[in-house]
Amino acid sequence: MNQPINLFEYEALAPQYLSPMALDYYASGAWDEVTLRDNRAAFEQIKLRPRMLVDVSQRDLSTQILDQSLPIPILVAPMAFQCLANPEGELATARAAAEVGAIMVLSTMSTKPLEAVALAGKHRQQEKGKKAEGEQTDIQNPSWFQLYVHRDRTLTRRLVERAEAAGFSALCLTVDAPVLGCRERDRRNQFTLPVGMELANLATMTGLEIPKTAGESGLLSYFAQQIDPTLTWRDLEWLQSITTLPVLVKGILRGDDALKALDHGAKGIIVSNHGGRQLDSAIASIDALPEVVAAVGNHLPVLIDGGIRRGTDVLKALALGASAVLVGRPVLWGLAVAGVAGVRHVLQLLRDELDIAMALSGCTKVKDIDRSLVKIKD
Ligand code: FNR
Ligand code: LAC
Repeated sequence: MNQPINLFEYEALAPQYLSPMALDYYASGAWDEVTLRDNRAAFEQIKLRPRMLVDVSQRDLSTQILDQSLPIPILVAPMAFQCLANPEGELATARAAAEVGAIMVLSTMSTKPLEAVALAGKHRQQEKGKKAEGEQTDIQNPSWFQLYVHRDRTLTRRLVERAEAAGFSALCLTVDAPVLGCRERDRRNQFTLPVGMELANLATMTGLEIPKTAGESGLLSYFAQQIDPTLTWRDLEWLQSITTLPVLVKGILRGDDALKALDHGAKGIIVSNHGGRQLDSAIASIDALPEVVAAVGNHLPVLIDGGIRRGTDVLKALALGASAVLVGRPVLWGLAVAGVAGVRHVLQLLRDELDIAMALSGCTKVKDIDRSLVKIKD
């Protein structure tokens, strides 16, 4: 195949570049993968109502979230173990995201240390700045850090302190994984990390590692042993009390939960079903978005992930009230196929598709993308 021209073509190429265990880990959803499929199907059900005869010669894709300026309303979703796709792993993703102006959300379970990832993104932005203006520029959109609260709260607190010290500008507290969803392919493969790859944020501090578990995914065992299943809304307040960073809650699928998040001080919501990897048969995230926006959209930025593969998907999500979207697996496919260049290209493709979709629907800026642009089939 020539160079891929869309995200699906990256997905089709990626298996050649991944071990079967890594491919299964990246691709799979929980149980029957109903939610995984539904995340896509639900987008396809939504139809657009484009506006005509608007001067769309100048278009601006930038937006604001949490007082941060984003060149595009697209972020990279937090995803664990990126060294399974490329030896540079999260460092490559950070560089590519910084080049395109997409905020990267780094997973707690990264295979490169968070300090190095923060630096990789900064350096790349400075290089770009040099070229553009002949001098170094300050980092424009520092990455965000995704937090898994471990049973060991001292360890958790230390992670938060490190993320803050390294310059991450927001925290995403993932709330849909008190236990890990059952991904049967990982169970079959007895998923674990290959020799030489580690939980880079945790191994050095505590020696924590993904175990080898007979007949089970090692990651599932890790969650059962280390991740705190007692987490409640009060812990959101605790988290906010130990950091100056804004905390977004990732994994909300109901309006009433979004209201609770608001009441307990969250600064943003990420509507997500974890890419269909947690509770199978959970509602598609785009189907949950309107309810969440109705509940808290006037008070908090609402972001969404799950099944975003085309610029039109981004347009639909923004029309339904999202402030921005996060893209997951396609970034891993780009990383596997061509490292930094692959991730950069995936993000550029999505950005360019959004740009065209906006033009074709009479939108010159993100604020023009309103609810009237979509018709949801009954
Ligand atoms: C994830 N996701 C995830 N979420 C999170 O909060 N922390 C994490 O460490 C991970 N790890 C992870 C690994 C892999 C391989 C995947 C595919 C996903 C979920 C992720 O942030 C996001 O919610 C979904 O991936 C979005 O769906 P799409 O774009 O992959 O369909
Ligand atoms: C996953 C976890 C790590 O989805 O969030 O695999």
